[in-house]
Amino acid sequence: MPATVVVGAQWGDEGKGKIVDLLAQDSDVVCRYQGGPNAGHTIVVDGETWKLRQMPSGVVSGTQSVIGAGCVVDAQVFVDEVDLLKTRGIDPSIVVLSGNAHLIMPWHVTIDQASERRLGKLQIGTTRRGIGPTYADKASRIGIRVQDVLDAKILREKIEVALAEKNLWLERIYDVAPFDLEEVWAQYAGFAEQLAPFVGDASLLVDQALHAGKNVLFEGAQATMLDLDHGTYPFVTSSNPIASGAPTGIGIGPTRIDRVFGVSKAYVTRVGEGPFPSEIPGDDQARLRELGGEFGTVTGRERRCGWLDIVALRYAVRINGITSLALTKLDVLSDFAELPVCVRYRLRDGSETEHFPAHQSDFHHAQPVWEVLEGWRQPLDDASSLDELPRAAHAYVELVSQALGVPIELVGVGAARERVLA
Ligand code: IMP
Repeated sequence: MPATVVVGAQWGDEGKGKIVDLLAQDSDVVCRYQGGPNAGHTIVVDGETWKLRQMPSGVVSGTQSVIGAGCVVDAQVFVDEVDLLKTRGIDPSIVVLSGNAHLIMPWHVTIDQASERRLGKLQIGTTRRGIGPTYADKASRIGIRVQDVLDAKILREKIEVALAEKNLWLERIYDVAPFDLEEVWAQYAGFAEQLAPFVGDASLLVDQALHAGKNVLFEGAQATMLDLDHGTYPFVTSSNPIASGAPTGIGIGPTRIDRVFGVSKAYVTRVGEGPFPSEIPGDDQARLRELGGEFGTVTGRERRCGWLDIVALRYAVRINGITSLALTKLDVLSDFAELPVCVRYRLRDGSETEHFPAHQSDFHHAQPVWEVLEGWRQPLDDASSLDELPRAAHAYVELVSQALGVPIELVGVGAARERVLA
């Protein structure tokens, strides 16, 4: 199975980084195909915690790592992570950056922040890292790409053209200070030198690796429900984290993908705004947040917490073509006597459905129909395989697998790399 996509099956923060890190042990190449430093992947290896924003999780184990054309890159974050690799004794030349990826420029970050402020109550709740404005410029064909750093004349010209328009916007629409061309140029001329050695042909590299029978892992930065086309629009990110985003974002054909590994928490979290049917009412939400350490890696924001939502997961299986699932953070549920699972949605007309509503208003008003499972009320520290889980924990995993018709291959029962049961 040389080509595997690992995709978040919920609203992000499913613990993908850790699963990718685990699968990366048997992989020759790890690729990021969308998103940018809006992601925050926490990986714990040998007691050392890594918090990555821009780099694929494979770098932690020194695996060749590719940032594809579908990604957006913050030069400062990239350079900082290159330094992090060096301080931790990893040779950064394992990283290849597609020349077709787009650069997040300082005005994208300012516009993201100003636009959210302006939306007020209607804000999306973005990470304010400039993601949306960068993808918008890409679609408008006025973006600045990584390969532009290879030619000083082109880079300067593009910054000049962009600033001529962006500064008008910043001053007149958003009422914020404009950028100074010479200052931006000085900063980016410096970045250009630092980025240039990493620029390569990601599509060709991955194609050749697959032809050579190597194992290639494709890692989405965000997750299914944040997908621009199939997520809970407008409370989504501006790219395609779903599995079909992998071939597009890297530059290979869809027929090259062999399997799709979905990653879901044993419950649900969501940051930012938008409807969330299985959100936990009352004090249990704060309790679960504390137990699971559910605070944003990048922003430190409190994550909203919900019980497991099978309806949304079934949708993720459909949209991604998930062939197997990893269920993470099962141990976080060990404290609860009863575990509600949302098995259907009740719609406004009183009907119930197992399928994710196609229309936003139906989703907005959907009420969860719960099946309440017995908790196991004991730590999962002693289990070294799925068979050794307490009976109730085993039943919980089994319910998910049965409901989705997908095998659960991995179950996370603790933060460390080895606390994933196969
Ligand atoms: P943006 O990607 O910064 O534009 O944010 C758009 C939406 O995606 C917001 O609701 C963010 O909270 C969410 N989002 C972006 N990246 C992540 C992530 O890595 N985990 C969870 N949510 C994310």
